[in-house]
Amino acid sequence: MFRQNPSRLTFALAAVLALSFSACKKKESTETSAASSSTILIGEVGSLTGSEATFGISTHNGIDLALKQINAAGGIGGKQVQVVTIDNQSKNDETALATSKLITQNHVVAVLGEVASSRSLVMAPIAQQNQVPMISPSSTNPKVTQVGDYIFRTSFIDPFQGEVMARFASENLKAKKLAILKDVKSDYSMGLSQFFIEQLKKSGGEIVIEQSYAAGDLDFKSQLTAIRAKSPDAIFVPGYYTEVGLVARQARELGMKMPLLGGDGWDSPKLYEIGGKAIENSYFSNHYSHEDQSPRVQEFVKNYKAAYGATPDGLAAMGFDAMMVLAEALKKTPDLDHKKLRDAIAATKDHPGVTGMLTLNSERNPIKPAVVLKVENNQSKFVATISPSAAPTK
Ligand code: PHE
Repeated sequence: MFRQNPSRLTFALAAVLALSFSACKKKESTETSAASSSTILIGEVGSLTGSEATFGISTHNGIDLALKQINAAGGIGGKQVQVVTIDNQSKNDETALATSKLITQNHVVAVLGEVASSRSLVMAPIAQQNQVPMISPSSTNPKVTQVGDYIFRTSFIDPFQGEVMARFASENLKAKKLAILKDVKSDYSMGLSQFFIEQLKKSGGEIVIEQSYAAGDLDFKSQLTAIRAKSPDAIFVPGYYTEVGLVARQARELGMKMPLLGGDGWDSPKLYEIGGKAIENSYFSNHYSHEDQSPRVQEFVKNYKAAYGATPDGLAAMGFDAMMVLAEALKKTPDLDHKKLRDAIAATKDHPGVTGMLTLNSERNPIKPAVVLKVENNQSKFVATISPSAAPTK
């Protein structure tokens, strides 16, 4: 099945990218200065290998698809656009090194990344300090854009995402007693738990138990046993796909049948591979559904499949949108001045993204709808679109 296995080619590409960046440091910087007059250089920091590799690869492909379309249409102001990608191996310290290198050695005009909020929180202070605009395609923790006025995102934020899943649990699933299993190492997981709990209480639900783990853990049995003793109607697990897949398997091994609920961090073909049958009939919120029949989404899905041989997940759509928003702002900034580029990104209004209409508010966040997806037959099935009260319609 397409969604289960991103093509080998994509992984091979990531490996080649990672290799070429570590092997050709010197060459790269000389090429950069020579290229700067005829090309516009953008930096990308992504988790192309490591525990969140599918996030980085899908995002990279989405960016790459946008880039190909931009360059095929003549580039920007007569210049071709080039993206310099560095793999941070899903690690925080590598993220800092990569961001600094792109800014100080490659002299990129802007940086795209990261996906994981904790790593965007490593990138953002470096970009802000150097006054280089940064757009995170999909980090949803509110703190990311609060770092400063050069930091943007093209995804909704977790107070909204938490509300969506809490409302879905109470209103659609009629779940009253909820358990939480969160990742203490992840700003995303901690924030999303908190926002979920706040809304659930407003909706009249009850949190019967809170348990935690740390990214990289393999055994969740003691937490799950404690949860089982409280007989919740559902368990909210706002983590990333590797741990969530294992949590699902171990919960079923312990005889627990209630649905698991989660957020966008579940969005990976690996979730179905790791979780198998155990993750079926669980629900998560996300940024888009490939089943959305709007022509904009279907055209993106068609082009992406043709280029990368896989159905695009939410990350791919978000990478595409972030690159396109940056391209629109670059068109308005012919001299590539960082401050002017910052102002142009900040002025993004009614951009027709694959993940919805994008208008950035004064906090440099867009307000847009979320979708709820159900895991069914090893893929995500569209269940509902939930709009924030002030969201523009698609
Ligand atoms: N929102 C997650 C975070 O902030 C990242 C993510 C986005 C993961 C979209 C999957 C899909 O950490």
